Amino acid sequence: MATNIRMTAGRVIFAIVSIITLAACSEPAEEVAAPGPSYDMDALKAEARAAIKEFGPALKTELQNAMSTGGVVAAIEMCNLTAPDIAVATGERHELQIGRTSHRVRNPANAPDEWEAARLQEFLVAAEQGVALKTLDFGAVVETDEGAVFRYMKAIPTGGLCVVCHGQELAPEVVDTLGKLYPEDQARGFEVGDLRGAFTVTRKLN
Ligand code: HEC
Repeated sequence: MATNIRMTAGRVIFAIVSIITLAACSEPAEEVAAPGPSYDMDALKAEARAAIKEFGPALKTELQNAMSTGGVVAAIEMCNLTAPDIAVATGERHELQIGRTSHRVRNPANAPDEWEAARLQEFLVAAEQGVALKTLDFGAVVETDEGAVFRYMKAIPTGGLCVVCHGQELAPEVVDTLGKLYPEDQARGFEVGDLRGAFTVTRKLN
């Protein structure tokens, strides 16, 4: 009888330990700190950077063309309509997904997910510590429900052209148009040299 009770207690303790272990294991193990040897991180980063090198200037060219031909309101409409198409086309060429995000988004569709939000916070801290924005990037292999994914982000600084639509003092027609298209706009009040956001690249690895 006494042995039985002891055994039962033992089982209970075993059960409790198992539950604790299970709970610990089921925590989202999102990030893989050291990617397996099969991933060529340099090549993955190079491909992401190549896509960004195409995407960034393509957007800027479209923006400048729209501004010089149709003015700032036309340029806002261009950003609204064309930016996502340029992202899709660039992504298809490089077999990855590319976009832009920010800690303060204009379009809620560009809002960062948890991983991106964490990187943006790191970029902000680094920027505050004086790290040059153009050197800020981060790439990692991340485990998701759908398997391993390469993720990469690169900081976007606010330049002189950008403050026309993202700055502190906006022309009335800019305020008007933004108000209509983006009632939840958070992407105003930036100064030249501020972190405006980041390019974000995702690529499935299997
Ligand atoms: C003519 C106005 C205009 C100018 C100039 C402009 N932007 Fe934007 N920007 C927009 C609009 C409109 C959006 C929302 C696009 C969308 O709907 O996806 C946007 C979105 C963004 C986003 C995506 C995140 C978000 O907030 O939704 C980033 C990053 C960004 N702009 C950076 C820049 C940078 C950097 C510059 C300067 C090189 C710049 N913009 C110049 C109008 C402008």
